[in-house]
Amino acid sequence: MLRVASSQGILLATMRADIIRQLIEAHAGGNDAGFRKAALQLAAAESAAGHTRIAEDLRRQVATLPSGRSRGSVVDIAQPRGDLAEILEGGHRDERLRDIVLSEGAKSELTRVIKENRSRASLERHGIQPRRKLLFHGVPGCGKTLAAAVLAGEMGLPLLTVRLASLFSRFLGATANHVRSIFSEMGQRPAVYLFDEFDSIAQARGQSNDVGELRRVATAFLQLMDTDESPSLIVAATNHPELLDRAVFRRFDAVVPFEAPREAQLTQLVQLRLKVQGIDPQVARAAARLGLGLSYADAARACDDAIRSMVLDHRERLTEDDLIRAFEAARRRGDEQSEFHGRP
Ligand SMILES: Nc1ncnc2c1ncn2[C@@H]1O[C@H](COP(=O)(O)OP(=O)(O)O)[C@@H](O)[C@H]1O
Ligand SMILES: [Mg+2]
Repeated sequence: MLRVASSQGILLATMRADIIRQLIEAHAGGNDAGFRKAALQLAAAESAAGHTRIAEDLRRQVATLPSGRSRGSVVDIAQPRGDLAEILEGGHRDERLRDIVLSEGAKSELTRVIKENRSRASLERHGIQPRRKLLFHGVPGCGKTLAAAVLAGEMGLPLLTVRLASLFSRFLGATANHVRSIFSEMGQRPAVYLFDEFDSIAQARGQSNDVGELRRVATAFLQLMDTDESPSLIVAATNHPELLDRAVFRRFDAVVPFEAPREAQLTQLVQLRLKVQGIDPQVARAAARLGLGLSYADAARACDDAIRSMVLDHRERLTEDDLIRAFEAARRRGDEQSEFHGRP
């Protein structure tokens, strides 16, 4: 563990030295965009080291820099280029813990992981790393992808999502190489790396007939997970944890179950979504009771529908009726879908 801590320290020091050199070069060359880019990279490196406050200070300073001579050519440094540009997509996120409603268990685990990563430097002085390889599982629409964005937002790191369609290469042998490039990127570009629909990687079935190739991908992934010591966070999300075997689960530092919302969580979600419009707590609870069985995503959509009704009727205030109707409609949609899929 001590070896891990010190190799991380060296990695960060090298990264900082490299960024500072870029800062100086950009300054000397009058390259405003380059200067901004390097400064933001420094902020990301500090975030990854758990120095969230320093990172936020840096970002604030960058935001107040006069807009550069090379306007229009400002690139989001969070977005990788080259080979990986097609595979990784994303950028900086504004989501915070206050934007997500979760069961007590999931919320406290998420909060704890954020705290650990913010305290990275102190933990490393004890030869310990924050937990940074996370598996999120649960039914669709319960906030797994959102939680990855919240992690990124809270840590001040970009969220980079692995695009599965581009990852699974048409070229034999290339997919495992893509996976290797992603892991090597993790060392150079601190971020939250999200492997959504992770079961398709861990299982890697159905994408090709060449089973040997697919097994290589899964094996490469697990080996890289084992040896990864990067400053990045890895989030794997899946709706089908039953498809993963124990060897896969074992690789993660934390496994977080995302449950379907109960009445209390649905009430919170309604209040959160309708914060601007303002909603009576009693009405929020009535909507939540109607919405029992819906996912967070379905309930969020019902709230949006209620706002649509209000706006289309040229009203300034959301009524109980708007909300109840929207939730009844969401319920009906849910029932129709279960019929369609042959479920009770
Ligand atoms: N737990 C939650 N708290 C607040 N909003 C949520 C939650 N879960 C889902 N949503 C809403 O539904 C949308 C889709 O959810 P998502 O995170 O993609 O679910 P999953 O990845 O679990 O399928 C989110 O962007 C958000 O608007
Ligand atoms: Mg998702």
